[in-house]
Amino acid sequence: MANKQSLDTTLSFPVEKIKKDFPILQREVNGHPLVYFDNAATSQTPQQVIDVIADYYQNYNANIHRGVHTLSQIATDAYEQAREKIRAHFNANKSYEIIFTAGTTHAINLVANGYTSLLSKEDEVLVSALEHHSNIVPWQIMCEKTGATLKVIPMLENGELDMLAFDQLLSNKTKLVFVNHVSNALGTINPIEEIIKKAHQVGAKVLIDGAQAAPHIQADVQALDVDFYTVSAHKMCGPTGVGVLYGKEELLNLMPPYQGGGEMIAEVSFEKTTYAGLPHKFEAGTPNICGGIAFGAALDYMHSIGFDNIATYENELLVYATEKLSEIEGTRIFGTSTDKKTAVISFNFEGIHPYDAGTILDKLGIAVRTGHHCAQPIMDFYAIPGTIRASFAFYNTKAEIDLMINALKKAKMMLS
Ligand code: ALA
Repeated sequence: MANKQSLDTTLSFPVEKIKKDFPILQREVNGHPLVYFDNAATSQTPQQVIDVIADYYQNYNANIHRGVHTLSQIATDAYEQAREKIRAHFNANKSYEIIFTAGTTHAINLVANGYTSLLSKEDEVLVSALEHHSNIVPWQIMCEKTGATLKVIPMLENGELDMLAFDQLLSNKTKLVFVNHVSNALGTINPIEEIIKKAHQVGAKVLIDGAQAAPHIQADVQALDVDFYTVSAHKMCGPTGVGVLYGKEELLNLMPPYQGGGEMIAEVSFEKTTYAGLPHKFEAGTPNICGGIAFGAALDYMHSIGFDNIATYENELLVYATEKLSEIEGTRIFGTSTDKKTAVISFNFEGIHPYDAGTILDKLGIAVRTGHHCAQPIMDFYAIPGTIRASFAFYNTKAEIDLMINALKKAKMMLS
């Protein structure tokens, strides 16, 4: 039998060296060393990315695609290089299938707006019960405008989707399916390959919200044959306010522009305006130039560690934390499989409000998210007001998990 120690890859993962890349992880909060377990809300930023942001503002801050002057050209090249890095990361066919957005929410709204002119009241669209509000509300607005019917793929007690129900909901009326790759509230990894394949069999298009998957899983949009895939940079060591929509060229071409303004036009006159081609048709106005460049740098940083290494290490943190948490009496964990989850644990304790426990953890320097996590239908399913959610990243450690477990025991004693 293999030695348990030798299977513990956390021992060979250079986490102490990695932690030094993150200045914020050196600080204290409320007199305690910061333990940051709110990575599903936003990840922390390594010095390598902070340097890229500072370099942009110190040396080549300029508007892009507009000026003949040197700074504008340097900024344009850096921005387009970042787009190319993102294309390569997700293995999109063409760099113009990568549309810069303000983040995942913006990307989803862009597609929902586009399909508002492509759907009619006979059409049906399917959304999963595991979605973040940002992958529910834009489609409700779209359905209000078009008369299309929104149907829900239900979830199961273990936090997975009810795939038998999905099969039954699919029909030739189904035009679009929206599912997250990973649930932000539970960490469930959804079977998106199967969902995409089955949806395509009835002619439906699929949008996958990849915001929570992207920090842990490198998606290959061509291998998945996904129609739309959305991500936010700030979940993967980049800055807030920037993300991308990947869309297949022919589908992006079908959709009208989302916003009007500079950059997205070919010709403007008061009689008629014609639109630019991809990606500019969807990129009106001055974009988050520095953010886009920094997103590219964040991908470089994550690749320097390796997505496979990250996934293996984080899964060990998840297994360890799940074991330790389960030992505390009265713990209820939501979303129970660890082999189909990213490193997220949503839990609560009988009779204790998640907010109260989260507040005590914060006093001890430990950052977790509490509440409904912008996924109220999941909380309604479990008939709870919310959960305590600890979400791990590759710069977290088992020692930090031990600190959280001790803090939770303390909180439980104080609140019981
Ligand atoms: N969507 C982010 C979260 O799950 C904000 O916390």
